[in-house]
Amino acid sequence: MSEPLILGIESTCDETGVALVRGRELLGDVVATSMDEYARFGGIIPEIASRAHLQSFLPTLDAALERADVDLSEVDAVAVCAGPGLIGSLTVGISAAKALAAATGTPLYGVNHVIGHLAVDELVDGPLPERFVGLIVSGGHSSILAVRDIATDVVELGGTLDDAAGEAFDKVGRLLGLPYPGGPHVDRLSQEGDRTAIRFPRGLAAGKDKERHRYDFSFSGLKTAVARYVESLEDQGLEVPQADVCAGFSEAVNDSLTAKAVQACLDEGVDALVIGGGFSANSRLRSLAAQRCEAAGLTLRVPPLRYCTDNGAQIAALGAAAVRAGVEPSPLDFAPDSAMPL
Ligand code: KG4
Ligand code: ZN
Repeated sequence: MSEPLILGIESTCDETGVALVRGRELLGDVVATSMDEYARFGGIIPEIASRAHLQSFLPTLDAALERADVDLSEVDAVAVCAGPGLIGSLTVGISAAKALAAATGTPLYGVNHVIGHLAVDELVDGPLPERFVGLIVSGGHSSILAVRDIATDVVELGGTLDDAAGEAFDKVGRLLGLPYPGGPHVDRLSQEGDRTAIRFPRGLAAGKDKERHRYDFSFSGLKTAVARYVESLEDQGLEVPQADVCAGFSEAVNDSLTAKAVQACLDEGVDALVIGGGFSANSRLRSLAAQRCEAAGLTLRVPPLRYCTDNGAQIAALGAAAVRAGVEPSPLDFAPDSAMPL
């Protein structure tokens, strides 16, 4: 008998994603985004995001079914992001998922969006390693996870104490006058700069808190250091070397992310690191992670970019893993959890 067909629904933030997965095979996925609406505000407006989900959901579902060449009646289970995320956005996706599960009489699985960023790698690179460390980096998260079973046994080793990596990039982009979201612009400029020209501080890298925060990050002090540096040049009427500032800042963020993720692999005795989340588009993260994993004898897995940003495939993949692991379905009255822990 073939493996069950899972419909995955993603709606934690500004992306409406629907995907169909059979086992570890991705049959079709479609993502709609309302990101274009936010450039003029400089940040996501939750009410606009919720309304966009409501408008996009059915067309996205239809497009995904068509792409996968399946009928809704063939779906064996529905998986949806239960959190963490924006409460209004989550509510739209979860309501739609409940309606579909109730109407088709299929089980419903509310799954963790963040863990989904790792699960999606199975659809691209094959079954996940038996044990591994995950690094999730996005506009909302920067976490290091120890994974023994993607559906049932994920432990958070550490995370950011303040800003997420993408958020820090967006804030530095803003202070340099770059368009929102600033992350990709800061990345682009950093590639033209000298990453050794300005050394910015690495948060939680040393000092008395070092052991307690072995796997934690802090990027807000770094962001303040960049702001001070830029302001002091401006006060003196000097030109800000934007590319060098971006390169030095990017180096500080990615030095912390990769050093701690590799350290976690060594401490946990695993030989694989999986990276996920929208920030994994960052060029320096990719090159430094590859370099450090190779030096430490670790296998590095990073899904292609379209599966690093929020999508329905990550939810369908985790739903499929939950079904495979025999996890109990969620009750139809489960509530979204905007701060869902792992
Ligand atoms: O995962 P994602 O698409 O959305 C969530 O935050 O859930 O991540 C988007 C974040 C934004 O902060 C964006 O600026 C950042 O990732 N980002 C980047 C790059 N591409 C996206 N930051 C640095 N370098 C990039 N190339
Ligand atoms: Zn995400």
